[in-house]
Amino acid sequence: MTAIMKLKPEEIREMISSGRLTVTVVGLGWMGLPLACLFADAGAKVLGVDKNRRLVEKINRAEATIDEPRLPQLVAKHVNSGKLRALDDVERAVSVSDVVVVTVPTSVDAEKQADYSILDSSCREIGRGLLPGALVILMSTVAPNVTERLVKPALEKSSGLLAGEDFGLAYSPIRAMGGRALRDLQEYRKVVGGLDQASLKAASAVLSTIVKAGLIETSNIKTAEATKLFEAVYRDLNIALANELGLYCERAGIDYFEAMEAANTQPYSHLHFPSIGVGGHCLPLYPYMLQTDAQTLGFKLRLIKAARRINDEMPRHVMRLASSGLRQAGRSLPRARVTVLGISYRANVKEARYSPAIELIDALKRRGSRVVVYDPKFTYGEVRTMGFDSEATFEAAVSEAECVILTVGHDEFKSINPENLAALTSKGCVVVDAASVLDPKTVEKVGLIYRGVGRGVWTR
Ligand SMILES: NC(=O)c1ccc[n+]([C@@H]2O[C@H](COP(=O)([O-])OP(=O)(O)OC[C@H]3O[C@@H](n4cnc5c(N)ncnc54)[C@H](O)[C@@H]3O)[C@@H](O)[C@H]2O)c1
Repeated sequence: MTAIMKLKPEEIREMISSGRLTVTVVGLGWMGLPLACLFADAGAKVLGVDKNRRLVEKINRAEATIDEPRLPQLVAKHVNSGKLRALDDVERAVSVSDVVVVTVPTSVDAEKQADYSILDSSCREIGRGLLPGALVILMSTVAPNVTERLVKPALEKSSGLLAGEDFGLAYSPIRAMGGRALRDLQEYRKVVGGLDQASLKAASAVLSTIVKAGLIETSNIKTAEATKLFEAVYRDLNIALANELGLYCERAGIDYFEAMEAANTQPYSHLHFPSIGVGGHCLPLYPYMLQTDAQTLGFKLRLIKAARRINDEMPRHVMRLASSGLRQAGRSLPRARVTVLGISYRANVKEARYSPAIELIDALKRRGSRVVVYDPKFTYGEVRTMGFDSEATFEAAVSEAECVILTVGHDEFKSINPENLAALTSKGCVVVDAASVLDPKTVEKVGLIYRGVGRGVWTR
Protein backbone atom coordinates (compact mmCIF):
# COMPACT_ATOMS: atom_id res chain seq x y z
CA MET A 1 0.00 0.00 0.00
CA THR A 2 1.01 3.60 -0.56
CA ALA A 3 1.54 5.65 2.59
CA ILE A 4 -0.78 8.46 1.51
CA MET A 5 0.49 10.70 4.31
CA LYS A 6 3.90 10.76 2.62
CA LEU A 7 2.49 11.98 -0.73
CA LYS A 8 2.20 15.55 -1.97
CA PRO A 9 -1.37 16.81 -2.69
CA GLU A 10 -0.86 16.66 -6.47
CA GLU A 11 0.44 13.08 -6.16
CA ILE A 12 -2.64 12.11 -4.13
CA ARG A 13 -4.95 13.55 -6.80
CA GLU A 14 -3.04 11.85 -9.59
CA MET A 15 -3.03 8.48 -7.84
CA ILE A 16 -6.77 8.67 -7.19
CA SER A 17 -7.57 9.53 -10.79
CA SER A 18 -5.33 6.73 -12.07
CA GLY A 19 -6.97 4.17 -9.76
CA ARG A 20 -3.90 3.56 -7.62
CA LEU A 21 -5.41 4.50 -4.25
CA THR A 22 -8.03 2.55 -2.33
CA VAL A 23 -10.73 4.36 -0.39
CA THR A 24 -12.87 2.50 2.14
CA VAL A 25 -16.22 4.03 3.10
CA VAL A 26 -17.53 2.66 6.41
CA GLY A 27 -21.35 2.84 6.59
CA LEU A 28 -23.16 2.63 3.23
CA GLY A 29 -26.35 4.51 4.14
CA TRP A 30 -28.03 7.62 2.76
CA MET A 31 -24.71 9.44 2.68
CA GLY A 32 -22.09 6.67 2.55
CA LEU A 33 -23.26 5.03 -0.68
CA PRO A 34 -23.39 8.30 -2.69
CA LEU A 35 -19.92 9.18 -1.33
CA ALA A 36 -18.55 5.76 -2.30
CA CYS A 37 -19.89 6.28 -5.84
CA LEU A 38 -18.32 9.74 -6.08
CA PHE A 39 -14.90 8.36 -5.08
CA ALA A 40 -15.28 5.62 -7.69
CA ASP A 41 -16.24 8.29 -10.24
CA ALA A 42 -13.06 10.17 -9.34
CA GLY A 43 -11.06 7.03 -10.22
CA ALA A 44 -10.33 5.48 -6.82
CA LYS A 45 -10.77 1.80 -6.05
CA VAL A 46 -13.58 1.82 -3.50
CA LEU A 47 -14.52 -0.66 -0.81
CA GLY A 48 -17.84 0.02 0.88
CA VAL A 49 -18.34 -1.60 4.27
CA ASP A 50 -21.62 -2.07 6.05
CA LYS A 51 -22.79 -4.29 8.90
CA ASN A 52 -26.03 -4.95 7.07
CA ARG A 53 -25.36 -8.07 4.98
CA ARG A 54 -28.52 -7.76 2.90
CA LEU A 55 -27.50 -4.26 1.91
CA VAL A 56 -23.99 -5.48 1.01
CA GLU A 57 -25.41 -8.26 -1.16
CA LYS A 58 -27.77 -5.88 -2.91
CA ILE A 59 -24.99 -3.41 -3.73
CA ASN A 60 -22.82 -6.25 -5.04
CA ARG A 61 -25.72 -7.18 -7.34
CA ALA A 62 -25.23 -3.60 -8.71
CA GLU A 63 -28.47 -2.34 -7.13
CA ALA A 64 -28.88 0.97 -5.28
CA THR A 65 -30.25 0.61 -1.77
CA ILE A 66 -31.71 4.11 -1.40
CA ASP A 67 -33.96 6.31 -3.47
CA GLU A 68 -31.54 8.93 -4.74
CA PRO A 69 -31.43 10.52 -8.23
CA ARG A 70 -28.54 9.20 -10.44
CA LEU A 71 -27.49 6.68 -7.79
CA PRO A 72 -28.80 3.50 -9.50
CA GLN A 73 -26.79 4.30 -12.64
CA LEU A 74 -23.61 5.05 -10.66
CA VAL A 75 -23.88 1.92 -8.51
CA ALA A 76 -24.48 -0.24 -11.60
CA LYS A 77 -21.59 1.36 -13.48
CA HIS A 78 -19.01 1.08 -10.70
CA VAL A 79 -19.98 -2.34 -9.36
CA ASN A 80 -20.07 -3.82 -12.85
CA SER A 81 -16.67 -2.35 -13.71
CA GLY A 82 -15.21 -3.68 -10.44
CA LYS A 83 -14.36 -0.21 -9.08
CA LEU A 84 -16.82 -0.47 -6.21
CA ARG A 85 -17.22 -3.53 -4.04
CA ALA A 86 -19.20 -3.90 -0.83
CA LEU A 87 -18.31 -6.13 2.12
CA ASP A 88 -19.27 -6.52 5.76
CA ASP A 89 -15.81 -6.84 7.29
CA VAL A 90 -14.46 -3.44 8.41
CA GLU A 91 -11.03 -4.67 9.47
CA ARG A 92 -10.42 -6.53 6.19
CA ALA A 93 -11.39 -3.54 4.05
CA VAL A 94 -9.35 -1.05 6.10
CA SER A 95 -6.29 -3.33 6.03
CA VAL A 96 -5.94 -2.76 2.27
CA SER A 97 -6.93 0.93 2.21
CA ASP A 98 -5.06 4.21 1.91
CA VAL A 99 -8.03 6.35 2.94
CA VAL A 100 -10.85 5.46 5.36
CA VAL A 101 -14.01 7.59 5.25
CA VAL A 102 -16.36 7.11 8.22
CA THR A 103 -20.10 7.66 7.67
CA VAL A 104 -21.69 5.49 10.37
CA PRO A 105 -24.76 6.75 12.24
CA THR A 106 -24.53 9.13 15.18
CA SER A 107 -27.61 9.93 17.21
CA VAL A 108 -29.15 10.98 20.52
CA ASP A 109 -30.51 8.66 23.21
CA ALA A 110 -33.87 8.67 25.00
CA GLU A 111 -32.57 11.38 27.39
CA LYS A 112 -31.61 13.57 24.39
CA GLN A 113 -27.92 13.10 25.04
CA ALA A 114 -25.53 12.61 22.11
CA ASP A 115 -24.95 8.91 21.42
CA TYR A 116 -21.68 8.01 19.69
CA SER A 117 -21.63 4.34 20.66
CA ILE A 118 -21.76 3.08 17.04
CA LEU A 119 -19.01 5.50 16.04
CA ASP A 120 -16.88 4.38 18.97
CA SER A 121 -17.18 0.65 18.21
CA SER A 122 -16.71 1.25 14.52
CA CYS A 123 -13.46 3.20 15.15
CA ARG A 124 -12.15 0.31 17.24
CA GLU A 125 -12.76 -2.02 14.30
CA ILE A 126 -11.14 0.44 11.89
CA GLY A 127 -8.12 0.69 14.17
CA ARG A 128 -7.60 -3.08 14.05
CA GLY A 129 -7.02 -2.92 10.30
CA LEU A 130 -5.44 0.54 10.01
CA LEU A 131 -2.14 0.72 8.11
CA PRO A 132 0.74 3.07 9.02
CA GLY A 133 0.64 6.05 6.65
CA ALA A 134 -3.14 5.85 6.05
CA LEU A 135 -5.60 8.73 6.40
CA VAL A 136 -8.92 8.59 8.31
CA ILE A 137 -11.58 11.19 7.45
CA LEU A 138 -14.57 11.26 9.81
CA MET A 139 -17.74 12.54 8.12
CA SER A 140 -20.46 11.43 10.57
CA THR A 141 -22.02 14.41 12.33
CA VAL A 142 -20.48 14.99 15.75
CA ALA A 143 -20.19 17.81 18.29
CA PRO A 144 -16.96 19.75 18.77
CA ASN A 145 -14.09 17.69 20.24
CA VAL A 146 -15.55 14.26 19.44
CA THR A 147 -12.98 13.54 16.73
CA GLU A 148 -10.10 14.35 19.05
CA ARG A 149 -11.50 13.01 22.32
CA LEU A 150 -13.34 9.88 21.14
CA VAL A 151 -12.34 8.91 17.59
CA LYS A 152 -8.61 9.54 17.97
CA PRO A 153 -8.12 7.50 21.17
CA ALA A 154 -10.34 4.67 19.85
CA LEU A 155 -8.26 4.45 16.66
CA GLU A 156 -4.96 4.75 18.50
CA LYS A 157 -5.82 2.14 21.11
CA SER A 158 -6.89 -0.55 18.70
CA SER A 159 -4.24 0.16 16.07
CA GLY A 160 -1.26 0.74 18.33
CA LEU A 161 -0.47 3.72 16.07
CA LEU A 162 -0.34 7.42 16.89
CA ALA A 163 -2.56 9.94 15.10
CA GLY A 164 -0.55 12.76 13.56
CA GLU A 165 2.58 10.60 13.54
CA ASP A 166 1.67 7.19 12.13
CA PHE A 167 -1.64 8.04 10.44
CA GLY A 168 -3.55 11.17 9.41
CA LEU A 169 -6.88 12.23 10.93
CA ALA A 170 -9.35 14.81 9.62
CA TYR A 171 -12.99 15.78 10.01
CA SER A 172 -15.24 16.90 7.18
CA PRO A 173 -19.00 17.23 7.76
CA ILE A 174 -21.56 16.10 5.20
CA ARG A 175 -23.55 19.11 4.05
CA ALA A 176 -26.09 17.18 2.01
CA MET A 177 -29.73 16.18 2.22
CA GLY A 178 -31.28 12.85 1.35
CA GLY A 179 -32.96 13.03 -2.06
CA ARG A 180 -30.26 15.26 -3.50
CA ALA A 181 -27.15 13.86 -1.83
CA LEU A 182 -24.99 13.48 -4.95
CA ARG A 183 -25.72 17.00 -6.09
CA ASP A 184 -25.19 18.58 -2.65
CA LEU A 185 -21.97 16.64 -2.00
CA GLN A 186 -20.45 17.93 -5.20
CA GLU A 187 -21.91 21.41 -5.35
CA TYR A 188 -21.64 22.74 -1.79
CA ARG A 189 -18.20 23.74 -0.61
CA LYS A 190 -16.80 21.08 1.70
CA VAL A 191 -15.56 22.10 5.13
CA VAL A 192 -12.49 20.24 6.39
CA GLY A 193 -10.35 20.41 9.52
CA GLY A 194 -7.22 18.36 10.25
CA LEU A 195 -5.47 17.16 13.38
CA ASP A 196 -2.30 18.75 11.94
CA GLN A 197 -1.21 20.39 8.68
CA ALA A 198 -0.26 17.09 7.04
CA SER A 199 -3.69 15.57 7.80
CA LEU A 200 -5.45 18.72 6.59
CA LYS A 201 -3.55 18.88 3.31
CA ALA A 202 -3.95 15.16 2.59
CA ALA A 203 -7.68 15.25 3.38
CA SER A 204 -8.16 18.36 1.22
CA ALA A 205 -6.40 16.65 -1.69
CA VAL A 206 -8.59 13.56 -1.35
CA LEU A 207 -11.82 15.57 -1.05
CA SER A 208 -10.93 17.87 -3.94
CA THR A 209 -11.32 14.86 -6.26
CA ILE A 210 -15.06 14.59 -5.53
CA VAL A 211 -16.18 18.16 -4.70
CA LYS A 212 -16.66 20.58 -7.57
CA ALA A 213 -17.39 23.67 -5.45
CA GLY A 214 -14.07 23.78 -3.58
CA LEU A 215 -13.08 23.38 0.05
CA ILE A 216 -13.06 25.48 3.19
CA GLU A 217 -10.14 24.56 5.42
CA THR A 218 -10.74 25.41 9.08
CA SER A 219 -7.95 26.17 11.50
CA ASN A 220 -8.77 23.14 13.67
CA ILE A 221 -11.06 20.13 13.83
CA LYS A 222 -13.51 21.47 16.38
CA THR A 223 -14.42 24.41 14.16
CA ALA A 224 -15.23 22.02 11.30
CA GLU A 225 -17.31 19.93 13.72
CA ALA A 226 -19.18 23.01 14.93
CA THR A 227 -20.02 24.14 11.36
CA LYS A 228 -22.39 21.26 10.71
CA LEU A 229 -24.27 21.70 13.97
CA PHE A 230 -24.49 25.46 13.52
CA GLU A 231 -26.08 25.07 10.07
CA ALA A 232 -28.66 22.68 11.50
CA VAL A 233 -29.43 24.83 14.53
CA TYR A 234 -29.82 27.90 12.32
CA ARG A 235 -32.46 26.12 10.28
CA ASP A 236 -34.23 24.60 13.27
CA LEU A 237 -34.47 28.03 14.88
CA ASN A 238 -35.81 29.71 11.76
CA ILE A 239 -38.46 27.03 11.36
CA ALA A 240 -39.39 27.43 15.04
CA LEU A 241 -39.70 31.18 14.54
CA ALA A 242 -42.09 30.67 11.62
CA ASN A 243 -44.06 28.15 13.67
CA GLU A 244 -44.32 30.46 16.67
CA LEU A 245 -45.42 33.41 14.54
CA GLY A 246 -47.84 31.09 12.73
CA LEU A 247 -49.39 30.06 16.05
CA TYR A 248 -49.69 33.70 17.02
CA CYS A 249 -51.36 34.51 13.68
CA GLU A 250 -53.95 31.79 14.23
CA ARG A 251 -54.94 33.44 17.54
CA ALA A 252 -54.76 36.97 16.14
CA GLY A 253 -56.85 36.28 13.04
CA ILE A 254 -53.96 37.10 10.68
CA ASP A 255 -52.94 35.09 7.62
CA TYR A 256 -49.26 34.39 8.37
CA PHE A 257 -48.49 33.85 4.69
CA GLU A 258 -49.75 37.26 3.69
CA ALA A 259 -47.75 38.88 6.50
CA MET A 260 -44.67 36.79 5.70
CA GLU A 261 -44.68 37.73 2.02
CA ALA A 262 -44.96 41.41 2.85
CA ALA A 263 -42.29 41.22 5.60
CA ASN A 264 -39.89 39.35 3.33
CA THR A 265 -39.80 42.24 0.87
CA GLN A 266 -37.47 43.79 3.47
CA PRO A 267 -34.02 42.45 2.48
CA TYR A 268 -33.11 41.38 6.05
CA SER A 269 -36.27 39.35 6.56
CA HIS A 270 -36.24 35.70 5.46
CA LEU A 271 -39.22 34.28 7.30
CA HIS A 272 -39.83 30.59 6.58
CA PHE A 273 -43.11 28.68 6.17
CA PRO A 274 -44.77 27.33 9.31
CA SER A 275 -45.39 23.58 9.20
CA ILE A 276 -46.06 20.37 11.09
CA GLY A 277 -42.54 20.57 12.51
CA VAL A 278 -39.13 19.22 11.71
CA GLY A 279 -38.12 15.67 10.80
CA GLY A 280 -35.40 13.59 9.20
CA HIS A 281 -32.25 12.27 10.71
CA CYS A 282 -30.58 15.67 11.15
CA LEU A 283 -32.50 18.70 12.48
CA PRO A 284 -34.36 16.97 15.32
CA LEU A 285 -31.07 15.48 16.62
CA TYR A 286 -28.19 17.86 16.00
CA PRO A 287 -29.29 20.65 18.40
CA TYR A 288 -29.16 18.04 21.18
CA MET A 289 -25.65 17.02 20.16
CA LEU A 290 -24.57 20.64 20.59
CA GLN A 291 -26.47 20.86 23.85
CA THR A 292 -24.71 17.75 25.20
CA ASP A 293 -21.37 19.41 24.54
CA ALA A 294 -22.49 22.77 25.98
CA GLN A 295 -23.56 20.99 29.19
CA THR A 296 -20.01 19.76 29.70
CA LEU A 297 -18.96 23.43 29.67
CA GLY A 298 -21.72 24.41 32.11
CA PHE A 299 -23.37 26.49 29.39
CA LYS A 300 -27.11 26.49 28.61
CA LEU A 301 -28.30 26.85 25.00
CA ARG A 302 -31.62 28.47 25.95
CA LEU A 303 -32.80 29.63 22.54
CA ILE A 304 -31.91 26.34 20.89
CA LYS A 305 -33.83 24.40 23.53
CA ALA A 306 -36.89 26.60 23.10
CA ALA A 307 -36.80 26.13 19.31
CA ARG A 308 -36.69 22.35 19.73
CA ARG A 309 -39.70 22.46 22.03
CA ILE A 310 -41.73 24.63 19.63
CA ASN A 311 -40.99 22.39 16.63
CA ASP A 312 -41.65 19.22 18.62
CA GLU A 313 -45.09 20.53 19.65
CA MET A 314 -46.27 21.17 16.09
CA PRO A 315 -47.70 17.68 15.34
CA ARG A 316 -49.96 18.00 18.38
CA HIS A 317 -50.98 21.46 17.23
CA VAL A 318 -51.94 20.04 13.83
CA MET A 319 -54.09 17.52 15.67
CA ARG A 320 -55.75 20.37 17.55
CA LEU A 321 -56.55 22.04 14.20
CA ALA A 322 -58.19 18.80 13.07
CA SER A 323 -60.14 18.66 16.31
CA SER A 324 -61.39 22.24 15.94
CA GLY A 325 -62.45 21.63 12.33
CA LEU A 326 -64.29 18.45 13.31
CA ARG A 327 -66.07 20.32 16.11
CA GLN A 328 -67.27 22.85 13.54
CA ALA A 329 -68.61 19.93 11.49
CA GLY A 330 -70.42 18.54 14.57
CA ARG A 331 -67.97 15.64 14.85
CA SER A 332 -65.03 14.76 17.11
CA LEU A 333 -61.65 13.05 16.86
CA PRO A 334 -62.60 9.80 18.63
CA ARG A 335 -63.83 7.37 15.95
CA ALA A 336 -63.45 9.98 13.15
CA ARG A 337 -62.11 8.61 9.87
CA VAL A 338 -58.94 10.65 9.37
CA THR A 339 -56.70 10.39 6.31
CA VAL A 340 -53.12 11.56 6.75
CA LEU A 341 -51.57 12.49 3.42
CA GLY A 342 -47.80 12.18 3.66
CA ILE A 343 -45.47 10.21 5.90
CA SER A 344 -42.16 11.54 4.51
CA TYR A 345 -40.45 14.15 6.63
CA ARG A 346 -39.74 16.34 3.60
CA ALA A 347 -41.42 17.10 0.28
CA ASN A 348 -40.66 14.74 -2.62
CA VAL A 349 -38.35 12.50 -0.58
CA LYS A 350 -38.91 8.88 0.40
CA GLU A 351 -37.65 9.15 3.97
CA ALA A 352 -39.74 8.84 7.10
CA ARG A 353 -37.11 8.81 9.85
CA TYR A 354 -38.20 11.10 12.71
CA SER A 355 -41.08 12.30 10.53
CA PRO A 356 -43.46 14.60 12.43
CA ALA A 357 -46.28 12.89 10.52
CA ILE A 358 -45.59 9.76 12.58
CA GLU A 359 -46.00 11.77 15.81
CA LEU A 360 -49.29 13.09 14.48
CA ILE A 361 -50.60 9.64 13.49
CA ASP A 362 -49.69 8.18 16.89
CA ALA A 363 -51.41 11.09 18.66
CA LEU A 364 -54.55 10.69 16.52
CA LYS A 365 -54.67 6.97 17.22
CA ARG A 366 -54.35 7.62 20.94
CA ARG A 367 -57.40 9.90 20.65
CA GLY A 368 -59.33 7.06 19.04
CA SER A 369 -59.38 8.28 15.40
CA ARG A 370 -59.47 5.69 12.63
CA VAL A 371 -56.38 6.71 10.68
CA VAL A 372 -55.51 5.85 7.09
CA VAL A 373 -52.12 6.94 5.76
CA TYR A 374 -51.26 7.56 2.13
CA ASP A 375 -47.94 8.69 0.69
CA PRO A 376 -47.20 8.41 -3.05
CA LYS A 377 -43.48 7.99 -2.30
CA PHE A 378 -44.13 4.70 -0.48
CA THR A 379 -46.07 1.61 -1.55
CA TYR A 380 -49.03 0.87 0.63
CA GLY A 381 -47.24 -2.30 1.73
CA GLU A 382 -44.32 -0.19 2.97
CA VAL A 383 -46.66 2.07 4.92
CA ARG A 384 -48.37 -0.97 6.45
CA THR A 385 -44.98 -2.39 7.46
CA MET A 386 -44.49 0.80 9.49
CA GLY A 387 -47.61 -0.21 11.41
CA PHE A 388 -50.20 2.07 9.76
CA ASP A 389 -53.37 1.39 7.82
CA SER A 390 -52.97 2.39 4.21
CA GLU A 391 -54.58 2.24 0.77
CA ALA A 392 -53.00 1.74 -2.63
CA THR A 393 -54.46 4.89 -4.22
CA PHE A 394 -55.17 8.46 -3.23
CA GLU A 395 -58.86 8.00 -4.11
CA ALA A 396 -59.24 4.96 -1.86
CA ALA A 397 -57.34 6.65 0.96
CA VAL A 398 -59.55 9.74 1.10
CA SER A 399 -62.80 7.94 0.32
CA GLU A 400 -65.44 8.81 2.97
CA ALA A 401 -62.81 10.61 5.11
CA GLU A 402 -64.19 13.02 7.70
CA CYS A 403 -60.86 14.78 8.00
CA VAL A 404 -57.90 14.94 5.60
CA ILE A 405 -54.55 16.19 6.93
CA LEU A 406 -51.79 17.22 4.53
CA THR A 407 -48.44 16.92 6.26
CA VAL A 408 -45.90 17.42 3.46
CA GLY A 409 -45.76 19.29 0.16
CA HIS A 410 -45.15 16.41 -2.29
CA ASP A 411 -45.77 17.53 -5.89
CA GLU A 412 -48.63 15.00 -6.09
CA PHE A 413 -50.39 16.83 -3.26
CA LYS A 414 -49.92 20.24 -4.85
CA SER A 415 -52.08 19.08 -7.73
CA ILE A 416 -54.99 17.93 -5.54
CA ASN A 417 -58.23 19.31 -6.94
CA PRO A 418 -60.43 20.46 -4.02
CA GLU A 419 -63.59 19.72 -6.00
CA ASN A 420 -62.45 16.15 -6.52
CA LEU A 421 -61.54 15.91 -2.83
CA ALA A 422 -65.00 17.14 -1.82
CA ALA A 423 -66.62 14.53 -4.09
CA LEU A 424 -64.58 11.67 -2.61
CA THR A 425 -64.73 12.55 1.09
CA SER A 426 -67.73 12.59 3.38
CA LYS A 427 -69.94 15.70 3.42
CA GLY A 428 -68.42 18.67 5.26
CA CYS A 429 -65.01 17.00 5.48
CA VAL A 430 -62.30 18.97 7.30
CA VAL A 431 -59.07 19.69 5.40
CA VAL A 432 -56.06 20.54 7.58
CA ASP A 433 -53.27 21.86 5.40
CA ALA A 434 -50.01 21.74 7.39
CA ALA A 435 -47.97 21.77 4.18
CA SER A 436 -49.40 25.00 2.70
CA VAL A 437 -50.22 23.39 -0.63
CA LEU A 438 -53.91 24.27 -1.05
CA ASP A 439 -55.58 27.63 -1.47
CA PRO A 440 -57.88 28.11 1.56
CA LYS A 441 -60.53 30.03 -0.38
CA THR A 442 -60.83 27.34 -3.06
CA VAL A 443 -61.10 24.64 -0.41
CA GLU A 444 -63.92 26.43 1.40
CA LYS A 445 -65.71 27.28 -1.85
CA VAL A 446 -66.34 23.57 -2.55
CA GLY A 447 -67.92 22.99 0.88
CA LEU A 448 -64.91 21.62 2.77
CA ILE A 449 -63.96 23.01 6.19
CA TYR A 450 -60.47 24.49 6.07
CA ARG A 451 -57.77 24.70 8.73
CA GLY A 452 -54.12 25.57 8.08
CA VAL A 453 -51.02 26.22 10.18
CA GLY A 454 -50.66 30.00 10.48
CA ARG A 455 -53.95 30.69 8.69
CA GLY A 456 -55.55 32.87 11.35
CA VAL A 457 -58.28 34.13 9.02
CA TRP A 458 -59.68 30.61 8.72
CA THR A 459 -58.52 29.06 12.00
CA ARG A 460 -59.89 30.53 15.21
N1 LIG B 1 -29.00 11.49 6.01
C1 LIG B 1 -28.68 12.77 5.94
O1 LIG B 1 -29.42 13.58 5.36
C2 LIG B 1 -27.38 13.27 6.56
C3 LIG B 1 -26.93 14.55 6.21
C4 LIG B 1 -25.74 15.01 6.77
C5 LIG B 1 -25.04 14.23 7.67
N2 LIG B 1 -25.52 13.01 8.01
C6 LIG B 1 -24.74 12.24 8.98
O2 LIG B 1 -24.03 11.23 8.28
C7 LIG B 1 -23.90 10.06 9.10
C8 LIG B 1 -24.53 8.90 8.35
O3 LIG B 1 -25.89 9.20 8.13
P1 LIG B 1 -26.79 8.38 7.12
O4 LIG B 1 -28.08 9.11 7.02
O5 LIG B 1 -26.03 8.03 5.91
O6 LIG B 1 -27.01 7.06 8.01
P2 LIG B 1 -27.76 5.72 7.59
O7 LIG B 1 -28.43 5.22 8.82
O8 LIG B 1 -28.56 5.91 6.35
O9 LIG B 1 -26.56 4.75 7.21
C9 LIG B 1 -25.61 4.33 8.09
C10 LIG B 1 -25.14 2.96 7.64
O10 LIG B 1 -24.10 2.55 8.53
C11 LIG B 1 -24.24 1.15 8.76
N3 LIG B 1 -23.54 0.82 9.98
C12 LIG B 1 -23.96 0.93 11.26
N4 LIG B 1 -22.99 0.54 12.09
C13 LIG B 1 -21.93 0.17 11.34
C14 LIG B 1 -20.64 -0.31 11.62
N5 LIG B 1 -20.23 -0.47 12.88
N6 LIG B 1 -19.82 -0.59 10.59
C15 LIG B 1 -20.23 -0.43 9.32
N7 LIG B 1 -21.45 0.04 8.97
C16 LIG B 1 -22.29 0.34 9.98
C17 LIG B 1 -25.73 0.93 8.79
O11 LIG B 1 -26.05 -0.42 8.50
C18 LIG B 1 -26.21 1.90 7.70
O12 LIG B 1 -26.32 1.24 6.44
C19 LIG B 1 -24.61 10.39 10.42
O13 LIG B 1 -23.69 10.90 11.34
C20 LIG B 1 -25.57 11.50 10.02
O14 LIG B 1 -25.90 12.31 11.12
C21 LIG B 1 -26.65 12.49 7.46
